[in-house]
Amino acid sequence: MELLEAIRTRRTTNGAFKPDRVSLEHQHLLVEAAGRAPSHFNSQPWRFILIDDPQIRGRVGEIGGATMTQLIDEGKFFSRYKKYFRFDAEEMERRRDGILIDQLPLPLRPFVKQIFSDTALTIMRSLGVPKLLGQDNRKLVENSPLMLAALLAKDEYIPGELSGMYCLLSLGMAIENVWLTCGSLGMGIQFVSTPMEIPSAWLELKTLLCVPEELELMAIYRLGYLPDEKKRPRIDWTSNQRKRLSQLVFRNTCATSEQDPTPSSEQEE
Ligand SMILES: Cc1cc2nc3c(=O)[nH]c(=O)nc-3n(C[C@H](O)[C@H](O)[C@H](O)COP(=O)(O)O)c2cc1C
Repeated sequence: MELLEAIRTRRTTNGAFKPDRVSLEHQHLLVEAAGRAPSHFNSQPWRFILIDDPQIRGRVGEIGGATMTQLIDEGKFFSRYKKYFRFDAEEMERRRDGILIDQLPLPLRPFVKQIFSDTALTIMRSLGVPKLLGQDNRKLVENSPLMLAALLAKDEYIPGELSGMYCLLSLGMAIENVWLTCGSLGMGIQFVSTPMEIPSAWLELKTLLCVPEELELMAIYRLGYLPDEKKRPRIDWTSNQRKRLSQLVFRNTCATSEQDPTPSSEQEE
């Protein structure tokens, strides 16, 4: 796959993967690509755990599902993240960021614009939505044939110091390499992030994965081969919109926004 095409087609996978085991060759390619990322002084502060043990995956799924249920039930998910959600295509087109919720469970559709209100939360609770979403998430996670945990060495990752920031930049680049490699291998990847929001759940995952004192568990992803036919999850979104150049780039100083290209300006080059 061409690099630019790989970058342009890279996506987060919200749905299920094929049940097939990810070959060891592909698992190793993913972490080799991660390790090829740049890092400060070539410190390579990252470590990875490749998780294919069904019992461990099952427990990660349980924790993922339970934390999803808890976050939705307590209203924390929506209150924390409502600024990122868009409900109409026009707003999405204007802002070109965030997440457009374009698939909701049937009973919730009439309340789409009020989904963040207390009334909607009460309705969702009475319909058992937090539990349903947690169950969906649990299945998605535990049925993912591979998980990848990303860790940082604590002697490099010192929050508040420059090396802490360098580590985060480096790990971000390593993960992007994994993500792009997934695309070239016909695989998908998604963050399993809800356990990070509940400290006791994150601690349980650290214990489950036997993370030693000198390493910090930074993120967990679920991965697998993409199915031929994609079934959309109960709640799904589109987030492939990106800002225009004029919305994210300046020319020379922050006083001047970059001009968006027009077909004629690009021809003049
Ligand atoms: C730091 C970070 C945290 C993210 N957290 C989540 C998450 O919790 N759940 C999820 O499904 N995707 C998560 N994502 C993926 C983003 O939602 C996704 O990249 C964004 O919406 C753009 O969509 P795309 O990846 O399909 O282009 C995260 C991505 C990053 C870089």
